[in-house]
Amino acid sequence: MLNIGIFASGKGSNFEAILDAVTQGKIPDARIVVVISNNSNAGALVIAKDRQIPAVHLSRKQFADDNEFNEALISILQKHQVNFIALAGYMKKLDPPIIKAFKNRIVNIHPALLPAFGGTGMYGLHVHEAVIGSGCRYSGATVHIVNEEYDAGPIIMQERIEIAPDETATSLSKKILAVEHRIYPEAIRLFAEGKILVNGLHRVTVTP
Ligand code: GRF
Repeated sequence: MLNIGIFASGKGSNFEAILDAVTQGKIPDARIVVVISNNSNAGALVIAKDRQIPAVHLSRKQFADDNEFNEALISILQKHQVNFIALAGYMKKLDPPIIKAFKNRIVNIHPALLPAFGGTGMYGLHVHEAVIGSGCRYSGATVHIVNEEYDAGPIIMQERIEIAPDETATSLSKKILAVEHRIYPEAIRLFAEGKILVNGLHRVTVTP
């Protein structure tokens, strides 16, 4: 059973897409056991409460140091028996103790075709502005395993879309979000079915 912990800082539309897929039986042997947000106003927390999923506001600011914060985080994850983490618009970097405790069992979605247009500062509309500004003909979404670096872990799934001549960052973000809502649950399904094998720093094998 995949006991999914969701980390989200914003609207939570990816969280909701995953939740819908779980509820509709599209991800077998999986359930979302907790939603954690650093932002007390996150839409993701509202969705979680509406849909009777434990919702926790946990921020580094509530603790004296990183250790205390990470201990509290781990204890929440243990309490809810989380064995898999999906970052869904989580704006904070996870510290090494969390990455180690969930090695190769943390995934993230990024609104561009990694390894391009990832890393520090590449979030929200900044990503799409950078993509359009570069003259790229395509962008898309990437689901990847999370390691200690921003947006740098092995890639599980990508889907590309063509950039229209009159594309704006806002129109591109809408198109890509629709792609995200489709491929993120799909990538998690592959995990739940044991079809994802991480076999190197940058490589993932996906069993058909
Ligand atoms: C998405 O674009 C995702 O790729 C990025 O953050 C955004 C989250 O959106 N990591 P939402 O909160 O899921 O609506």
